[in-house]
Amino acid sequence: MEIVRSIAGVRAWRRGAGAGSLGFVPTMGALHAGHASLLRAARAGNDRVAASIFVNPTQFGPGEDFSRYPRTFAADCALLAAEGVALLFAPEPAEMYPAGFSTAIDVGPVGARLDGASRPGHFTGVATVVAKLFSITGPERAYFGQKDAAQVAVLRQMVRDLSLPVELQICPIVREPDGLALSSRNRYLSPAERVEALVLSRALLAAEDLARHGARDAAMLLETARAVLGEEPALRLDYLALVEPDTLEPVAFLEPGRPALLAVAGWIGVTRLIDNTLLSPV
Ligand code: PAF
Repeated sequence: MEIVRSIAGVRAWRRGAGAGSLGFVPTMGALHAGHASLLRAARAGNDRVAASIFVNPTQFGPGEDFSRYPRTFAADCALLAAEGVALLFAPEPAEMYPAGFSTAIDVGPVGARLDGASRPGHFTGVATVVAKLFSITGPERAYFGQKDAAQVAVLRQMVRDLSLPVELQICPIVREPDGLALSSRNRYLSPAERVEALVLSRALLAAEDLARHGARDAAMLLETARAVLGEEPALRLDYLALVEPDTLEPVAFLEPGRPALLAVAGWIGVTRLIDNTLLSPV
């Protein structure tokens, strides 16, 4: 695996790599089995795979965890190499945001919903860095996790609006056997907090179960999930919402053939966690 720090280096690698499709997996490092599933999908669908590790400062708000975000570069490189990644782009902030950098991509209302509502500016940071990473690497396909469902909606909007020549591939959430969705931020949790965090997936499961038994009313589904969340005093709820997956606008009733996104976010201690599920009535 070639590790490249500069934009010019990636472009040179791309020219030298010749024909064949490139799958791209952008990450902030602290890689886990969820990232590995993206890398495997990228490998299966493309001739070559490139990944990036860049803890993007512009998607963190003041007081968020930018400075303490887990940085595990050596272990990440080992995982990427084992998954057959050909190129790792790992720039310093100054390479991505040199003095005078001032462009920002605002995707509009979808960027201000769910996490965009509680983390103002977050999705402008995400959209801008992802557009820049696409421009640098020029992939045919790029791979993202469904766990960041609002990020997926934002990036779909951006790719559509800007006619970016890249196909977004969204991979399912990877969970621990007990239901906890994998996240780089799970490393922050103490053993007790890790148990408390299970309330998120439990709440989603309760609503899924109700929907499977025919419930269609959003208020009832949300109430059921909220009741489960309420059982865990350690959880400080940020949002619980049933929304249309592309626009993130609220859904009042589940309709056959129209999957709705049930999404939750909250803090366990100082750790902000998110989780979601798609409810697909038949
Ligand atoms: O999902 C992430 O890890 C980040 O938001 C991304 C897409 C790499 C942009 O910094």
